[in-house]
Amino acid sequence: MTKPAASLPDFPEPEPLDGHGPARVITLCNQKGGVGKTTTAINLGAALAEYGRRVLIVDFDPQGAASVALGVTAKDDQPTVYDALMSQSVSLTDIIQPTSLARLDVAPANIDLSAAEVQLVGEVARETTLARMLRPALDVYDVVLIDCQPSLGLLTVNALTAAHGVIIPLETEYFALRGVALLVETIAKVADRLNPRLKIDGILATMVDTRTLHSREVLERVHEAFGQQVFATVIARTVKFPDSSVAAEPILTFAPDHPGAQSYRRLARELIARGDAA
Ligand SMILES: Nc1ncnc2c1ncn2[C@@H]1O[C@H](COP(=O)(O)OP(=O)(O)OP(=O)(O)O)[C@@H](O)[C@H]1O
Ligand SMILES: [Mg+2]
Repeated sequence: MTKPAASLPDFPEPEPLDGHGPARVITLCNQKGGVGKTTTAINLGAALAEYGRRVLIVDFDPQGAASVALGVTAKDDQPTVYDALMSQSVSLTDIIQPTSLARLDVAPANIDLSAAEVQLVGEVARETTLARMLRPALDVYDVVLIDCQPSLGLLTVNALTAAHGVIIPLETEYFALRGVALLVETIAKVADRLNPRLKIDGILATMVDTRTLHSREVLERVHEAFGQQVFATVIARTVKFPDSSVAAEPILTFAPDHPGAQSYRRLARELIARGDAA
């Protein structure tokens, strides 16, 4: 386990907040699978909650990974994101569930959500359905994090349309940049046609192994391609992340002092210092 180099800049402890809202909505997006979207959603969410922010994680993946990772699984009779999206009679407040962490809530999803991708196609204003669904959260939370599935389909377009910012997690391996041009193009199209406020908050290097030359080279290429957009914070590769998923809790509570937990706290401070979260 490599600690972040001592020369990396740190970011100040965030000021406490007087009240809550309006929320900044951030989408975790990369159509490549297994790059750390869900891990980032739950651990960045947990870190922001530790800093006194009220955080809602919207599970927008029919696999329901974020819900499971937070120990929240919707029972058969409980409404989920699918119901709040598709049914006039179910609102976001009906589906939100608390987690074991104070100030961290989740809007859970399950496999039902896969039907929404198809059903939404025939809806009026189909790309803005999630933005409408999220309205009740905006006054109550400081940050809303949307965990996308690995696709650039209609659900992801909804997530981009509902957001102020996008964080793109990139696994630090040889093919990391493959597909990123298409992702950036999709973000630009959504910004142009549907959501002019949308911006890329940052590229997050995940699963970094600074001991290997390969990992360092990939990191260099990511910096060449995206410059200032790359977060100074990087997330090292460590088995503590899959371990904490098995335990169904964020690494921040599973192993609070582990460097993996510290790096997500640092990411939260960086985001706040950049002005990209309250
Ligand atoms: N920094 C890390 N070091 C080691 N393993 C990690 C790290 N971050 C995530 N993982 C593990 O890698 C796997 C994929 O991570 P995660 O589920 O967060 O990716 P994802 O982008 O959400 O995937 P999907 O596209 O399938 O939704 C998980 O088993 C997770 O525990
Ligand atoms: Mg995921």
